Amino acid sequence: MFAFPSAPLRVLQLSDPHLFANADGHLLGITTRASFDAVLALAIATPAAALILTGDLVHDDSAVGYAALHARLSTVNCPTHCLAGNHDHSELLQAHFGIAAIAPIQQVWLPPWKLLLLNSQVTGRNHGSFQRKQLAELKQQLTKDSAPTLIFLHHQPLPIHSRWLDTLAVENGAELLQLCDQHSQVKAVIFGHIHQEFAARRGGYQLLGAPSTCVQFLPESDDFAVDEQRQPGYRELLLNANGTLTTRVVRLAHYHESPQLKSKGY
Ligand SMILES: [Fe+2]
Repeated sequence: MFAFPSAPLRVLQLSDPHLFANADGHLLGITTRASFDAVLALAIATPAAALILTGDLVHDDSAVGYAALHARLSTVNCPTHCLAGNHDHSELLQAHFGIAAIAPIQQVWLPPWKLLLLNSQVTGRNHGSFQRKQLAELKQQLTKDSAPTLIFLHHQPLPIHSRWLDTLAVENGAELLQLCDQHSQVKAVIFGHIHQEFAARRGGYQLLGAPSTCVQFLPESDDFAVDEQRQPGYRELLLNANGTLTTRVVRLAHYHESPQLKSKGY
């Protein structure tokens, strides 16, 4: 009997919303709650199987900011999963989203796919790092289970040709990539933190960075620089039952605020 192939699973990555307690709070000229709401509305206008938020959820260490995010996500009609970025407060993140949000490895099943969310946060620092036992556990999981796998984390695990951002990567990201090299079920390593689109291929998997839902950083810049040309956006991943995927970055067609170009940092 002929069987129609099942529709791909649509997974959304939203990253670096940098929300504030105050609904009017802004980062470098962008009101982050408003831009997040606009990107989220665009993303979920088409049904999705899961939404992954890859860190820097709240910028001002506020319980109100995390509560507002939790309330907003509770209206979304699909499962949502968060992981920590360098700007996140891990106790507040855990208080609002549970222990899974700060676990070394968070597992999300979307049969036949498996999503692994790695915590790369180093408390009080802007770069990332993996714990030795975290990488050992990941190796064990990849060895025992061959389901097609996506790995999500906050920090980029490889240089992206931007001098200032390359000092803020995961310091032992090369170890993650070497591990992925040995496990052909890994189809993509997906990250936030860099506030810009990025795509590369290494062997059998893709390396994918996403725009922020608020301020964009200028690609391939030696020093901190804001990108005024590109709008807030998200990454869409379409996961096929045969273990292949397609992906694209989708941005707002227009956003009414412009970033402050003269900023020296954030
Ligand atoms: Fe960020």
